[in-house]
Amino acid sequence: MNSRKFVRTRQYFEEDYVEGYAEVPEQGNPPGIDADKARQLGKPLDRYDGYDKASGTAEYTFDVQLRGMLHAKILRCPHPHAKLVSIDTNRAEALPGVVAVIHHGNVPNIPWFNDSALFDTHLRYEGDEVACVAATSERLAEQALKLVDVTYDLLPFAVDAEKVVKDQAPVFHEDGVLAYRPWIYERGDVNQGFNAADAVVEDSYSTQVAVHNPTEPHGSVAVWDGRRLTVYDSTQGVYAVRETVAEKLGIPQSDVRVITRCMGGGFGSKLATGKYTVMAALLARQTGQPVRIALDRDEMNLAVGNRPDSFQRLKVGAKKDGTLTAMSLEAFGSAGAYRAWAGCNFPMIATYKCENVRTEMRSVYVNLGPGRPFRAPGRPQGTFALDSVLDDLAEKIGIDPLELRLRNNAEGDQFTNQPYTSKKLKECYQQGAKAFGWKEKWRPPNSDSGPVKRGVGLATQIWSGGGGPPAGVTVKLNSDGSAGVIAGSQDLGTGTYTFLTQVVAEALEIPPARVRVTLGDTATGPLCPLSGGSQTAASIAPAAWDAALQIKQALVSGYAALEGVQASAVAYSEGLLSMKSDPSKHMTIPELTDKLDSGTIVRTGYRAANREGYTIQSFGVQFAEVEVDTRTGRVLVKKIVAAHDIGRTLNRKLLENQFRGGIIQGISFALLEQRVVDHQTGKVLTTNLHDYKLPTVYDAPDIEVITVDPKDKIANSLGIKGIGEPPIIPTAGAIANALKNATGVRIRSLPMTPQRVLTELSAAAKGGRS
Ligand code: MOS
Repeated sequence: MNSRKFVRTRQYFEEDYVEGYAEVPEQGNPPGIDADKARQLGKPLDRYDGYDKASGTAEYTFDVQLRGMLHAKILRCPHPHAKLVSIDTNRAEALPGVVAVIHHGNVPNIPWFNDSALFDTHLRYEGDEVACVAATSERLAEQALKLVDVTYDLLPFAVDAEKVVKDQAPVFHEDGVLAYRPWIYERGDVNQGFNAADAVVEDSYSTQVAVHNPTEPHGSVAVWDGRRLTVYDSTQGVYAVRETVAEKLGIPQSDVRVITRCMGGGFGSKLATGKYTVMAALLARQTGQPVRIALDRDEMNLAVGNRPDSFQRLKVGAKKDGTLTAMSLEAFGSAGAYRAWAGCNFPMIATYKCENVRTEMRSVYVNLGPGRPFRAPGRPQGTFALDSVLDDLAEKIGIDPLELRLRNNAEGDQFTNQPYTSKKLKECYQQGAKAFGWKEKWRPPNSDSGPVKRGVGLATQIWSGGGGPPAGVTVKLNSDGSAGVIAGSQDLGTGTYTFLTQVVAEALEIPPARVRVTLGDTATGPLCPLSGGSQTAASIAPAAWDAALQIKQALVSGYAALEGVQASAVAYSEGLLSMKSDPSKHMTIPELTDKLDSGTIVRTGYRAANREGYTIQSFGVQFAEVEVDTRTGRVLVKKIVAAHDIGRTLNRKLLENQFRGGIIQGISFALLEQRVVDHQTGKVLTTNLHDYKLPTVYDAPDIEVITVDPKDKIANSLGIKGIGEPPIIPTAGAIANALKNATGVRIRSLPMTPQRVLTELSAAAKGGRS
């Protein structure tokens, strides 16, 4: 038997794995499947769990019902900054139906975030956790919250990041962490670069705080079986939750099982383990009953994360021919009350070719809910500003905005000085422009004379999403020739169940209907990464492919052994093994497995390391056409053409789905969404979906999705790059540029609401800057 090329991963080495079989692809090489010849990969297979979801039978964490289950609600601090002086739970506990109340005084001090605790007496934002009540119904638990008597000492608060930076507002973390921490990136010499420029544009931009608001609320159901804990959790990482819960409770990971069957999204707000999960576990242990906590919309808008705002000062310089000579950015954003990254500087660092770049980024503490990764953290806000100033620069030097991008296309990764595994951005520009009709549609700014003006704009996207180890997938070939797939990943609604079905069906040459996938259970699935950073498919699909190929090879070897021939004398096709020399001699999978001592074949495949010396990134461009009613300020997005290099398409239907979702979320970020805070009281005013505007079908324009690269030949064995985050990145920038092109007026703050557009239009008409 040939030994296979194997890249050892430190964490997941198994003897069994090295032995392996021949023909498993060397990492980085194409797997021998031509995209054209693929029967399952790339095809628009219906969503695996589509029927269950459409019919309402799919079980989300929110739906989990266990016998004797209690419902818990969290009492949250109503003030932006306070010290808890006293807490009295007597009245709450006296309410019939209330089973337990936990707070800082009666549970162990469990460390959390910077210098805080699960229940901290120093409360740093409206929504910080004070107590948790378990009762026989959710309604009773809610009622009981009102009966917990708490006295607070109110402290001075800061909710305005701009003011914090200006006044150097007080530090409110005892660990001495500075109120804001700069991160400086520099290459080349920006001063020299600006001196060499023929034109320079300098401007300020800002973006709002946006809240994830996934469809399914955050929540957990915890149940103990003796000393073992099972947590049903709506999470982007069952393994991460297992690790954190075990650590917080001081029990072995083997005593914690985390299950996520179906999920209604997360967008990054469900990457970290929630305090509510640990509270459910504590209450369940104390009461001996299962405990469910499901957050409500108020809590989701206050306390579980947001896309930080941004305040950006940008400067870009270029030669007459459009060659960028220097770019600089000074920016900050609100981290919230605890440590978080509010950066928006990566678009400037990596998107366009430029030798002289300097970015200075600060994350500022404010007394508001935590900043969290949100679908391409930092990118939509950074791209909005960068692509806006680039368009103004293009106008200044009299060059087509698309041409400016083409002239500054970077060959390699300027951040690491490594080549990319693949980059087809030029093709994206060309194919996208053609489909959109850029040449025909672009006119000088403010070309329409009527009150309703049309305009077009574009912006560029760059994102990682190459995935990598550790990721394992187990495939079980059953005695009837059907297959089971088990992975410790989860499906957020993005399609993990579906593409794993396709990968295994492709490799084993069996119909997708013969494949069953089990996800989201740490008790069964091998370790897989968090579903974040667009890394799921690129991490776990190659592992599943590997496992299935091992099984195929085991079948071939087994049949060869029975026939007393070399494996190379055996052919495998669509579940049938045969002798190459005499195809009439053949055997089905059931006939063969019947003769195996094991009865079935089980193999686990692991994701090998990415090839050293390369950077894996996705790229793309979006073209937007908008219509602006200058009487009402309403911006109507008519059309988006998205042309992206995202490697191999695993499922065209899921891909379109991800792209449409991301683009609509991008439109929403550009035009609608906004967390509003009352600066007088420090309280959030938009804690429901009436006040916090999310898009509906009426906000969705005509969207065309183009993918340019069938596969990335170096990134991984299947040539996959992630698609979760790329679609949202350039949308707001493209719309802002289209709005400028339509009206001649530049909007420098998001969201571009009718009110803001009208204000800017009238300011420009009065001779203000535009
Ligand atoms: Mo994402 S922000 O990595 O879920």
